[in-house]
Amino acid sequence: MAGTRARVTSPRIIVEPPGPRAREIIEKDHKYIMQSFARWYPLVVERAEDYVVYDADGNMYIDLNSGLGVLNVGSSNPAVVEAATAQLRKLIHYSLTDFYYEEAVVLAEKLVEIVPVKKPAKVFFTNSGAESIEASIKVSRYSTGRQYIIAFLGAFHGRTMGAVSLTASKAVQRYGFSPLLPSVVHVPYPYPYRCPFAVDDPRECGERVIGYIEEWIFGKLVDPSEVAAFVFEPIQGEGGYIVPPDNFFPELEKLARRHGILLVSDEVQSGFCRTGKWFAIENWGVKPDVVATAKAIAGGLPLGAVIGSERVMSIKPGGHASTFGGNPVSAVAALAVIDYIRREKLCERAARLGEKVVKRLVEAMDETKMIGDVRGKGLMIGVELVRSRETKEPASKELGEILLRLFKRGYLVIGAGVSTIRIAPPLTIDEEALMNAIEAIIDEIKRVEREKGL
Ligand SMILES: Cc1ncc(COP(=O)(O)O)c(C=O)c1O
Repeated sequence: MAGTRARVTSPRIIVEPPGPRAREIIEKDHKYIMQSFARWYPLVVERAEDYVVYDADGNMYIDLNSGLGVLNVGSSNPAVVEAATAQLRKLIHYSLTDFYYEEAVVLAEKLVEIVPVKKPAKVFFTNSGAESIEASIKVSRYSTGRQYIIAFLGAFHGRTMGAVSLTASKAVQRYGFSPLLPSVVHVPYPYPYRCPFAVDDPRECGERVIGYIEEWIFGKLVDPSEVAAFVFEPIQGEGGYIVPPDNFFPELEKLARRHGILLVSDEVQSGFCRTGKWFAIENWGVKPDVVATAKAIAGGLPLGAVIGSERVMSIKPGGHASTFGGNPVSAVAALAVIDYIRREKLCERAARLGEKVVKRLVEAMDETKMIGDVRGKGLMIGVELVRSRETKEPASKELGEILLRLFKRGYLVIGAGVSTIRIAPPLTIDEEALMNAIEAIIDEIKRVEREKGL
């Protein structure tokens, strides 16, 4: 879709990865780069075009993770490259913190137009998801004069000290960094497949979470008048691609409005049509006060933005800033992304392809017992693997094995949560390539199930 090369529908592996060149690079990486990352498998990327990725030894892969939720319009999208290249020659940087330039203003106007917050609204530019969360915490506290933030267990909001204080997806992400930000309270996320409360019907899970907040948090721990914001992912990403029941966000909105608490939607991973809507929270018709974005916004260049209603975006001059935030090259790239998404109707495409993928995966539940749950919206789809449907024991080792085998076959798929396959390809992916990848995933699940005698 985005590229000009011949249509690719299947991967091509010529050397078993990691090949010799990849191994050389990995060895140096281990020597010179702090090994704080938990990498999925030894992929060494050399170049990529749209949804096709080439490694250092000439292998060609199909991308099903979008370089971690960034490449919604495909890698090196020509519209993005053209806009950024022209801007590199014209103006590469001139800090928005101290001066003005038009590119940032034009982008801010566009973002206000597409983001589902109450208007009038304003933008603060950042360089990453974590920085967008930091800014969201600051505007929430500043504008309400309240201290507490309520976040959700299973959430991933980033790694800086404020963002990691809200993150509760894996203990290792917090380990060794305490004390973290005080006055952050975590509550369970409504996870229908594994509701933390006993429910007869998984759809009741959202009500139970709301009840828990009212009774146990507001009743016993924090008066709601001290809570600045609920910060949430509309679909938990890192935590396992978890979609809450349909009534959860409308009920959370009512609760928040009743107590003057802000709603901050972390759309860092779920934004820019990933879920079939510009922003995932639109799937439930809820209007947050603040939307935090990053990842896909500038087609692969570093940029983030916080968009909030005017009364929230009220920090006084000198109170918050970032040297690189809203960089002009990233800003024109983001404008190209927005135009491209509109022109190619990528929201609609994500919704249509997502339905087709979910339908096939649900069918596959009759072919393998290891698929416990299939969930998602648009092209943000989770396939939760279990060792047994009765016990729901997570198939976490098996997940690792399946992902490694897919990698060796030429499919770049990663996991989420404890045992969930995460399917999040570029929204531009060729339909046949996508469906071939889904068949490869199903095939590998069946093989592992057979081999392990599950
Ligand atoms: C929902 C969400 N919020 C925040 C972040 C942090 O973004 P970054 O890595 O750009 O700081 C991520 C990253 O995966 C994310 O998925």
